[in-house]
Amino acid sequence: MCGIVGYVGVSQAAPILLEGLTRLEYRGYDSAGIAVREETAAHIEVVKAKGRLKNLMEMTDSGHAVRGCCGVGHTRWATHGEPSTNNAHPHCSQDKRVAVVHNGIIENYQEIRTSLQRKGYVFRTQTDTEAAALLLDSYYAEGAQSGLAPRERALLAIHHLMIRVRGSYALGILFGDQPGVLYAARKDSPLIVGCCAGELHGHMIASDVPAVLGFTRSVVYIGNDEIACLTKDELHIYNIDCEEIEKPVVEIQWDAAAAEKDGYEHFMMKEIHEQPRAVRDTLSPRIKEDEGRRWIDLSETGISDEELAGVSRITMVGCGSAYHVACAARVVIEQLAHVPCEVDLASEFRYRDPILEESGLVILISQSGETADSLAALRLCKARGVRTLAVVTVVGSSIAREADAVLYTWAGPEISVATTKAYSTQLAALYLVAVKLAAVRGAIDGVRQAQLIEEMLALPDKIERALSDKERVQWFANKMAACKDVFFIGRGLDYAISLEGSLKLKEISYIHSEAYAAGELKHGTISLIEDGVLVVGVATQPALFEKVVSNMTEVRSRGAYLFGLTTYGQYAIEDTVNFTVYVPRTEALFATSLAVVPLQLLAYYISCAKGLDVDKPRNLAKSVTVE
Ligand code: AGP
Repeated sequence: MCGIVGYVGVSQAAPILLEGLTRLEYRGYDSAGIAVREETAAHIEVVKAKGRLKNLMEMTDSGHAVRGCCGVGHTRWATHGEPSTNNAHPHCSQDKRVAVVHNGIIENYQEIRTSLQRKGYVFRTQTDTEAAALLLDSYYAEGAQSGLAPRERALLAIHHLMIRVRGSYALGILFGDQPGVLYAARKDSPLIVGCCAGELHGHMIASDVPAVLGFTRSVVYIGNDEIACLTKDELHIYNIDCEEIEKPVVEIQWDAAAAEKDGYEHFMMKEIHEQPRAVRDTLSPRIKEDEGRRWIDLSETGISDEELAGVSRITMVGCGSAYHVACAARVVIEQLAHVPCEVDLASEFRYRDPILEESGLVILISQSGETADSLAALRLCKARGVRTLAVVTVVGSSIAREADAVLYTWAGPEISVATTKAYSTQLAALYLVAVKLAAVRGAIDGVRQAQLIEEMLALPDKIERALSDKERVQWFANKMAACKDVFFIGRGLDYAISLEGSLKLKEISYIHSEAYAAGELKHGTISLIEDGVLVVGVATQPALFEKVVSNMTEVRSRGAYLFGLTTYGQYAIEDTVNFTVYVPRTEALFATSLAVVPLQLLAYYISCAKGLDVDKPRNLAKSVTVE
């Protein structure tokens, strides 16, 4: 996620902006910039640089070379457009009448861009943010003859933008003809106001509490669809209709380390809770609607519907959790699109001289986009002339750049070594591919497509509800923290879910665990089941429910302690298991997105109960860039 900092007050702004941005570095970024308005200057001064903040520091003598007491700063986590100085924020209208920094995703930026180009606007970047900046400029220019006072004119322009834009945004805004005034607005992306006293007398805006903690503990939380107008002495908050509203000032009790985690004890828990937003950000921009009809638009990948329809076979390749995503996606794609799918570990794929079809499609799945084995697998496919699609999180990563096509998951940076939101958003991205494939191949009709899209759009709220059961999972985790061996069993999608649940447990609790196809147990492994062995039985698939429960009965009769994971309504499981966690019902093919949540929480709480380093487990790296 990007980071925003703003300041207006009696001190020089640029050093404060840069200091605030360094407090947001943990969010991950690939470029940065500041825009500052000096009262007597002719226009806003903008300085941007690709790479680390130190580049910006060196360019501006840590901000001391940039004069002015009102400005905004930004660290960019690229979503639309490669990491570059040009794509870095702030984005301005040509004559710097408006300067904008943004965190979030403008879903309808292309249509806004086209509309503004018709009005003569020229775009200089690939970003969605520039569309917002120029749209704001157009509304502000329209107000020039209105006779409105500058502040009312600015508020009206921001109001129109908030009505026109779809997506999520936190905006920091400067108007060139309003020195000493800082505006902000937000929808679904966090933004706070800091109230500074003493030699810093004035106000700040920031994406997150850590950015202001060095300057103040007094903050005001800007709510959804609200606008802030700040000067060194004044703080005004308005609703979307430009009516002023009262907001309480809150005193922050956290220290900086806690604040980076948004108050959670670990980044992993923060990222588990970011899953609803991350899945929504990944799905919504690709689901278009017109006159009540919805469809999936993957045109950003550059793969046409005709090319998708002609795909003869899909091979999905990844490592670790990315491979587990592939295992789940294979079930979804084959059952919806009837396209033969195979999955493979990248470290195996690259050395097995795979048989690849010219009309096939290889999908590389990766959070970092830098995993050595996955990158090698990609290069092997390219060398064979087979079309490749990357499903990755990090924009501009090697796999993203080298694949023929890329479908980004807008999860934002993932700090914890154990992946959670990247896994969930990769899965969501592949649901889009599966439904799109099925639709273009005529494997599903319009009614079924609409139903699947409806279910996808409902997933974020259902993930939220799955999270609400975390105290029950925590209670069970504390009971089972001393376990030595744990089995995860399931069939079909539930086996794919078991793979991910087992890896989560192993990598952060150091407890040996194994995922097993439930129907395979009796072919040997069941000999390991004895009194007290914990078995997590995953049974979300209605068609296989009885079979899996029967397998659970088999292990229960041999002394296993059973944790049952199923969907609301499948209460028959209670006759077999010792403990049950239910997740909301959904389309069976999308159950992975919900069932994985309790398993992430189980691993997390067991690791906490053992006093381990949840975010940085021993022996592991976030990105395995070597063989
Ligand atoms: C998962 O929690 C692990 N961090 C690990 O298995 C990871 O999924 C794997 O190394 C692949 O990484 P990538 O997604 O960045 O390619």
